[in-house]
Amino acid sequence: MTNKLDSIQISNICCIGAGYVGGPTMAVIADKCSDIRVTVVDMNLKRINSWNDENLDQIPIFEPGLKEIIQRTRNKNLFFTDNMEDSIKNADIIFISVNTPIKKTGLGAGFASDLKWVEKCSRQIGEMATGHTIVVEKSTLPVRTAKVIKEILFSSALNNKKTFSILSNPEFLAEGTAVNDLVNPDRVLIGGEDENAIEVLSKIYRNWVASQKILTTNLWSSELSKLVANAFLAQRVSSINSISALCEATGANVKEVSNAVGLDKRIGNKFLNSGPGFGGSCFKKDILNLVYLCRFFNLDEVADFWYQIVLINDWQQKRIYEVIVRKLFGNVSGKVITILGFAFKSNTNDTRESPAIKIANYLLVEGANLRIHDPKVSYEQISIDLKGFQEYKGDESIGSWQQCLKISDAVRDSDAIVLATEWEDYNKLDWGEISSLMKTPGWVFDTRKTLNGKEIKNNGLKYWGLGEGDEKKEV
Ligand code: NAD
Ligand code: UGA
Repeated sequence: MTNKLDSIQISNICCIGAGYVGGPTMAVIADKCSDIRVTVVDMNLKRINSWNDENLDQIPIFEPGLKEIIQRTRNKNLFFTDNMEDSIKNADIIFISVNTPIKKTGLGAGFASDLKWVEKCSRQIGEMATGHTIVVEKSTLPVRTAKVIKEILFSSALNNKKTFSILSNPEFLAEGTAVNDLVNPDRVLIGGEDENAIEVLSKIYRNWVASQKILTTNLWSSELSKLVANAFLAQRVSSINSISALCEATGANVKEVSNAVGLDKRIGNKFLNSGPGFGGSCFKKDILNLVYLCRFFNLDEVADFWYQIVLINDWQQKRIYEVIVRKLFGNVSGKVITILGFAFKSNTNDTRESPAIKIANYLLVEGANLRIHDPKVSYEQISIDLKGFQEYKGDESIGSWQQCLKISDAVRDSDAIVLATEWEDYNKLDWGEISSLMKTPGWVFDTRKTLNGKEIKNNGLKYWGLGEGDEKKEV
């Protein structure tokens, strides 16, 4: 029997927001659905121009496998533009993929989501859409935001011949593995009330995702599941990070502990790597938003439980900085410290909430001169992230930073190296050569525990590995 909805033909998709979610997600949809025209629209013209750059190394987001997809689809059935009106007017489905940061001021400041971008584009959709349009929340939103979007859309639709269906379809991709996550998702979650609209969206995903992986729920479960998934992931990172400190105090080794714990199938071995605290644009903001929601609904105990994950994360970054200063005889003023890695994780050029920024800030305040190397983060981005601190101006500098494109320049005359991001290239470093370039005693602080500590020590350097206690030390 044929499904009556099989006849619904979607020919135009629009996505508002050409960021880390909108760009890769739409690229994959365009790649998998050659009969659909996908338009990604953004008010940031500079970003749109970068997406349209002929040199594929200049597209604004670095993700393994992304530029190959852009090459296959761009200007065939994938388009990047700042023309909101045409993109919205012609769309059968509109994805909202705009930023939803935490409010900086006003009611709920520091916790609540700032929905001004969502509200703005809902108004734009309300004004410019024609006919029937399915509006999909792709951004991560507080539970019950669909109600706000609905009110805005329906108020603009009054007296006009336009109608809307609202769906929640949160995105679970992780940066650095975005293409693979989109092509092989664990699940696709669609929440909504309108079964027709759910079926239309499911049908698009069925072009490459097995039906069993497409999960449908009510709107509020879908919105909330996204916040909860991020909170659970971040919770695992904070849990193992708290244990890293206990390992250092007791002579245990956090790698060994996480391996032993993770082998229990009920616990599983994913997301148990201790490190300098989670970064990225979402974990912190999504947990803070969850905390805000709990307090809003008078669930203070629940709010306190989740808030602790953020506190442990901040504490982990602070305690790493304190270890560095203590090991360098309590003083880093005027000392050269090399920061290897500035992105919040490997395989991305994104630095939002990167632990490297937090640690760099602490060290700059203490007067250290930082030499920063990252294979993908640009000079412009580092300047933005360290705004307020001076760039290196010569030997007399105190509390300055400098970008180094070559690792040899970053480590020359350095007092210490801090490995902040686990880029694969850093596992292949020649520690003999590095040691010969550094000052003595030279320190290596491995906040990801990915380097070969033994080899580093054999080359005459001092080594501190996160969560690595001294098993011979009397406690
Ligand atoms: P981003 O800041 O990279 O991109 C958002 C884009 O939206 C910006 O380029 C901005 O100019 C544009 N924009 C905002 N309002 C607009 C408007 N009215 N009209 C046109 N363009 C507008 O953000 P992102 O990282 O892509 O995240 C987007 C959403 O997806 C957030 O809610 C985030 O929580 C969620 N999310 C992000 C990730 C991730 O890995 N980054 C993963 C899953 C979910
Ligand atoms: C995370 C989630 O994994 C995605 O499912 C979600 O869609 C996304 O947030 C989002 O909503 O934005 P992302 O932040 O891109 O993705 O990257 P993760 O791989 O989750 O890493 C987050 C941070 O945790 C990084 O700083 C990473 O280094 C750190 N981390 C992760 C650890 O310290 N240890 C681990 O074991 C795993």
